[in-house]
Amino acid sequence: MAAEPLLRALTRMRSFVLDPDVLVRAVASGRQKGAQPRWKRVELRYVDLKAGRHLQVTAYDETQAHTTNHAVGEPGQPSPARDAVDDLMDEPFGNWHVETTTQQHQVRVTKKLEALVHTTERAEAVEVDREHDRDKGRLFPEDDPVLVALGISTAEGRIKPSRQAKYRQVEEFLRLLDASLGEALQKGHLRRPTAEDPLRVVDLGCGNAYLTFAAQRFLTHVRGLPVRVTGVDVKQQSADHSSGVAERLGVEADFVVGSIAAAELPQPPDVVLALHACDTATDEALARAVGWEAALVLAAPCCHHDVAAQLRRTPTPAPYALLTRHGILRERFADTLTDALRASILRLQGYRVDVVEFVESEHTPRNALLRAVRTGGPVKGGGVRKEYDELVATWGIRPRLAELLDL
Ligand SMILES: C[S@@+](CC[C@H](N)C(=O)[O-])C[C@H]1O[C@@H](n2cnc3c(N)ncnc32)[C@H](O)[C@@H]1O
Repeated sequence: MAAEPLLRALTRMRSFVLDPDVLVRAVASGRQKGAQPRWKRVELRYVDLKAGRHLQVTAYDETQAHTTNHAVGEPGQPSPARDAVDDLMDEPFGNWHVETTTQQHQVRVTKKLEALVHTTERAEAVEVDREHDRDKGRLFPEDDPVLVALGISTAEGRIKPSRQAKYRQVEEFLRLLDASLGEALQKGHLRRPTAEDPLRVVDLGCGNAYLTFAAQRFLTHVRGLPVRVTGVDVKQQSADHSSGVAERLGVEADFVVGSIAAAELPQPPDVVLALHACDTATDEALARAVGWEAALVLAAPCCHHDVAAQLRRTPTPAPYALLTRHGILRERFADTLTDALRASILRLQGYRVDVVEFVESEHTPRNALLRAVRTGGPVKGGGVRKEYDELVATWGIRPRLAELLDL
């Protein structure tokens, strides 16, 4: 993915955002280097009100959402919607995510203030939903029985104020899952499941299985795919709780009590999820995924201690001492190093990998997600291997994932 001038990329995104027949939704978030946008996050979509078509802008600050509607106006006439979009495009957001009926565009602004644009085609075109009720634009309606059963929504089908962040995380996860799965199916990297041989999805370190049930519900009810989910967690309480939820929902799902490293599954899964599994449990999940030759892996790492501890023990190579001198910077650097090495190791195992933003959970402020699609067999030598070898040699570290895969 080559960088391109930011203005050019934003002008292209602006044309999608300004077209009510094409835009499904757009989200601006993050910030550009050294700048601070007015809002933490902004979501845009079109809604049909009694007073005509409007652009609905929901802007989030630290504590709450502010929703405003801006008339679209006739062609050639003044357009409050266009003005609102131009104001937002002027804000120094670090990311723009623009979903159209046929494509999803992810724009990331680099430190040099250039744009990296990643575009994926949808497996099938979707329709624009312009119902005024905000929830209709969501992947998962507030009153979905899964959200009620998981205690995210009240019995009346409204999100509990204390669970808003969890709901946002579920939505964000489903969007990433939907886009990744759609692309993998379209490109033939993931087999088309059948009723006799459903898509096998395993969630490693599933906890209370919010995302396991969300994935199951979304893939079966919204995408119409036959799916069988399995959750794995060391905690017996997790399996008891999740089995109870599955029974209440009438959903067939399996919950295995065991470690990620050793859990036995009847058949290798097609899709491996590992969301906020602690420290090297993410490495164990990635190693299992590689061993199973899983077609798609979505892993959001949690706390990273292993490489941070190795950096503390090993002398820092010149001229990088400043990166590790202060504890907080060393920890952040260790996070980046860990995930960069994980991505590199997965590439060596035949996966195409990208690292994208995922909203953080209540367990961790970390917000990266490794998305890996198996596109071939292990890579023996070449540039990827050289890059990896040089990086670990420079820092004198041995990533846990490399150990697990005997690399
Ligand atoms: C922070 S929670 C995340 C839960 C869930 N994936 C989510 O994102 O909502 C991490 C879960 O991983 C489980 N876990 C951590 N290490 C594990 C391991 N090595 N094997 C199995 N489960 C593990 C913990 O018991 C805990 O339930």
